[in-house]
Amino acid sequence: MSKLEIVKVPDPILRETSTPVESVNADVRRLMDDMLETMYDAPGVGLAAIQVGVPRRVIVLDVSTDDEEPQPFFMANPEIVHLGEAMRTHEEGCLSIPGVNVEIERPADVTVRYVDREGAAQELTADGLLATAIQHEVDHLDGKLIIDFMSRLRRDMIIRKFRKQRQASD
Ligand code: NI
Repeated sequence: MSKLEIVKVPDPILRETSTPVESVNADVRRLMDDMLETMYDAPGVGLAAIQVGVPRRVIVLDVSTDDEEPQPFFMANPEIVHLGEAMRTHEEGCLSIPGVNVEIERPADVTVRYVDREGAAQELTADGLLATAIQHEVDHLDGKLIIDFMSRLRRDMIIRKFRKQRQASD
């Protein structure tokens, strides 16, 4: 496995729509493994392939706490097929927007269909942090970011700040 570089705002690739993978072959499995290592190293609870510069519909997640066994999920072509009516609010961060947290209200329960690391079709119903993280990562596959839940004014301020930081480091 190898650690990959995480793409940060305002890189325009983060706004691209990712395309489905045709099958979970050795290349996709390697991508999944590298993404998981990158996510654990960051550390974070979810990562989408577009965040390492690969515009394919692949996400990895692990919301287990430090005192629990790791519980990684590998999802190719995740599709949210049901959202519950109850809502959950969580202060979300994003590895592509370090230091920025946004309080976001999303459905508390979600059912997702996906293809797992072994190529098997799966359906999972989740709640709590996992439900939030799944919705956050699927948003990435459609080019949507947590700053899109803010006012335009605040969003533009954050993008300007990241653009300046990048220019300063070039
Ligand atoms: Ni994110």
